[in-house]
Amino acid sequence: MIGLSDAPHLDTAVMHSLERVRTFIDARLDAAVVLSPEASPRLVDSMRYALLAPGKRLRPALVLWAASACASDAAADRSREQAWALAAPAALAVEMIHAYSLVHDDLPAMDDDDLRRGRPTCHRQFDEATAILCGDALQCFAFETLAQGMPAATAARGCLVLARASGKESLVGGQADDLAAERGWVSDMTTAPASEQVAWLERIHRRKTGALFSAALELGGLAVAAGPHQLAMLAAYGKAFGLAFQIADDILDAEGTEAAVGKRVGKDVERGKLTFPSVIGLEASRERAAALAREAAEAVAGMGPAADDLARLALWIVHRNH
Ligand code: IPE
Ligand code: IPE
Ligand code: MG
Ligand code: MG
Ligand code: MG
Repeated sequence: MIGLSDAPHLDTAVMHSLERVRTFIDARLDAAVVLSPEASPRLVDSMRYALLAPGKRLRPALVLWAASACASDAAADRSREQAWALAAPAALAVEMIHAYSLVHDDLPAMDDDDLRRGRPTCHRQFDEATAILCGDALQCFAFETLAQGMPAATAARGCLVLARASGKESLVGGQADDLAAERGWVSDMTTAPASEQVAWLERIHRRKTGALFSAALELGGLAVAAGPHQLAMLAAYGKAFGLAFQIADDILDAEGTEAAVGKRVGKDVERGKLTFPSVIGLEASRERAAALAREAAEAVAGMGPAADDLARLALWIVHRNH
């Protein structure tokens, strides 16, 4: 762990490692979503548009790095390449779920955004109905990819992990409560004591964002038959990482630039959304995110150097500019 947080080496190392993930994943995403006789060309175009847009590929990175961290411990003879090959279907599947969630999150009925990953949002580039269908199809395709690509012995468990992280008690549930609060469908939280607002925000963040990160880590572990101790370390990492990530996302919305972030900024305040910066202030949000990042890095310290990419990513995630 010593030296892991030494910027600018941290930034360089994370950028380099993420680039390797992007190369690995983007080629496979590109090959996965192709036109077939029964698929509507406009639908496939929209899926490729949403999926292949230049995202950070954080969730695939977590799948792959969890797999290589566990594999090097559980079976020393297993190279990183083998671990990545075993984990590839899960890495593709989580990115498909993520991409679908972004397409739907940006819809006029939800956040009504027109910029995503530096490009027009899916409904802007195509149309609203196509964007809805694009999200629907990406979601199904994630489970198809997982069920087809994972070994039969673990495929059902993998689908269960991903379904639980994506559904009513997780991503969709968190999104629903996020909107409910914004639209005033639940009691007004803005007048509640700060400690209650923070607890309420953490509950939303844990579900709308954290759950998919945790699933990515668990799926990476499952792909290489990680043991319970390793899975527990990954779970502890994921819990802290997810919250640190979303606090950083809220901070970027408050003070990032559109050019760097690739999406519209300042929209949370515009909508009167409760966020960490709006409840505890920017400085305290930064401190909380940094503490969570250290907690995440420490959670995987027991895995040794094989988990360095995971540890570095957690430290980077809170001072990123995009
Ligand atoms: C953005 O996620 C959406 C949230 C969950 C807040 P990312 O910041 O990982 O987006 P991409 O994949 O890099 O575009
Ligand atoms: C979206 O959160 C989370 C999901 C898509 C599940 P936000 O609404 O804060 O994400 P951005 O800021 O639009 O990327
Ligand atoms: Mg949203
Ligand atoms: Mg949004
Ligand atoms: Mg946001």
